[in-house]
Amino acid sequence: MARITLRQLLDHAAEHSYGVPAFNINNMEQGLAILEAADAVDAPVIIQASRGARAYANDIVLKGLIDSLCEMYPHIPICMHQDHGNNEATCATAIQHGFTSVMMDGSLEADGKTPAPYDYNVRVTKAVVDMAHWVGASVEGELGVLGSLETGMGEKEDGHGFEGKLGHDQLLTDPGQAVDFVKATQVDALAIAMGTSHGAYKFTRRPDGDVLAMHVIEEIHQRLPNTHLVMHGSSSVPQDLQDVINRHGGQMPQTWGVPVEEIQRGIKHGVRKINIDTDNRMAMTGAIRKVFAENPGEFDPRKYLKPAMDAMRTVCRQRFEEFGTAGWAGKITPIPLSAMARRYASGELAAKIGITRQAAE
Ligand code: G3H
Ligand code: 13P
Ligand code: ZN
Repeated sequence: MARITLRQLLDHAAEHSYGVPAFNINNMEQGLAILEAADAVDAPVIIQASRGARAYANDIVLKGLIDSLCEMYPHIPICMHQDHGNNEATCATAIQHGFTSVMMDGSLEADGKTPAPYDYNVRVTKAVVDMAHWVGASVEGELGVLGSLETGMGEKEDGHGFEGKLGHDQLLTDPGQAVDFVKATQVDALAIAMGTSHGAYKFTRRPDGDVLAMHVIEEIHQRLPNTHLVMHGSSSVPQDLQDVINRHGGQMPQTWGVPVEEIQRGIKHGVRKINIDTDNRMAMTGAIRKVFAENPGEFDPRKYLKPAMDAMRTVCRQRFEEFGTAGWAGKITPIPLSAMARRYASGELAAKIGITRQAAE
């Protein structure tokens, strides 16, 4: 079995200066595509499931799927992560079903819509950290609300994400507050807000520093050099995938995502986990549309799901290579949750604030 915690994987990524894409899944085809890509390039994997994904696929099916992937690819460390947990119960039940890591997204209240006060975020995140660390699981927190700096709007995904309009003070993580948050909560990784949003419609033009505030990452990394940073909403929304969809009957208005070079810049400044869902959704949808457009009589799901998996595998492999994840799987020996729990209890994994990484080692 090769389940790994987020903390161990991101500690390794930081030590060797690479990033790890975190791919969302809802079904078997996506799980197989990710692992085929990881196996081809020897990359460790983060698979994440949203609340919507857990409801769609069923926790028991998801657990069985991850167990199967671990058995098929025992040499690939797999981190199973809860994406955007909305409260303590969501995080606890994820761990109960074999997740080795959870995100407690206290930037929003438990409804997944209302921007939450800072004190609430600290309180709920700390409660999840205590619970998760007792059993050795990892926790990602979020400070700042994801949304567009162009419009002030969030992109609501399957019920998650704020509704309405926010100011830049809420859409950009405050570096000083980030230090306080990590100290108070002891999260293993910190998701920050800097102009990315979920879904395909992130930017109305190729983003520059006004709408994609990479400088915020750099400032936070300077103050928290030992904290693993997480970029959400980091699909690149490639033009070729938009074109495949639109050439085969789709109607996606022209849009721009987060350029891979900007993510690579982030990786140089402490970004270790990069969340990607939309690119894979688009890759699968384009391939399926193509089959239907070219063979309107087709009705065997394997005939369109196989090309969909192939297209998703291509995107995953590209990201593993672009983020420097490729080549590391075989060099990691996963530490069991019980041993991680002992490491937390000993204080060895406490957040290191205000000291350089070199000094911390
Ligand atoms: O958080 C955003 C991910 O893209 C998951 O989306 O909630 O529709 O599964 P979802
Ligand atoms: P995208 O919609 O850009 O793929 O982001 C996914 C994400 O952040 C999941 O948490
Ligand atoms: Zn997200």
